[in-house]
Amino acid sequence: MSSRSAGDAKRDAGYHAAEMVRDGMVLGLGTGSTAYYAMVRLSARVREEEIAVAGVPTSHQTAIRARELGIPLTTLDEHPTLDLAIDGADQVDPALRLIKGRGAALTREKVVACAAGRVVIVADPGKVVQALSGVVPVEVIPFAVAPVMKTLSGMGGVPRIREGMAKDGPVITDNGNFLIDCHFDRIPVPEGLEATLTVIPGVVECGLFCRYTQKTTLVVGEEEGCRVITGKRAQEI
Ligand code: 5RP
Repeated sequence: MSSRSAGDAKRDAGYHAAEMVRDGMVLGLGTGSTAYYAMVRLSARVREEEIAVAGVPTSHQTAIRARELGIPLTTLDEHPTLDLAIDGADQVDPALRLIKGRGAALTREKVVACAAGRVVIVADPGKVVQALSGVVPVEVIPFAVAPVMKTLSGMGGVPRIREGMAKDGPVITDNGNFLIDCHFDRIPVPEGLEATLTVIPGVVECGLFCRYTQKTTLVVGEEEGCRVITGKRAQEI
């Protein structure tokens, strides 16, 4: 039996993605434990003066970690387009569509993915699924939570306001909003659900990422080495 853990897979995927970064790039820095491994390796490359980079963090957590690691930070105001974004995912399907948002950073992660010429998703094998299903996080302005919950229920979802772990009451995102975790047994058309969710008044963003598949490269940390799957346009960029 293999003694390899999900943590080993995350580390390998993160390190692999960091090696894809070239000198002078402006990066999107994703949130979560797998994206963190990419930052650890990036930080070593920066320290060894192999590359100079600047990163736009997708959360307060990532900003804090990047500062600790000595990765220079920048903003979308200074760099509205990014060379490459490195981020994790909660699920990824064979078409490279994603569910994200376990870390409540989905809105900034989507803004950064949109701004990036190329998106590298780092994952352990447990994230790879045949079909997306289950919980889709939805960021909502507090004013609109009740009507949005009602709309989600009417769509066949089972919505729940995400509660804090070390805080009583709802999780407040880095943008000052609430997060609704909406369970869907099946998501037969992820693009359709993404489009429907994001036009509900009061919804800021949802955790379905279906629009960036062509510029996405998926790196999965596997026992035999990293498996790399590249979207149609990702190799050209
Ligand atoms: C945060 C995210 C994360 O990228 C996603 O939850 C994966 O996290 P991890 O790498 O820790 O498993 O979407 O909003």
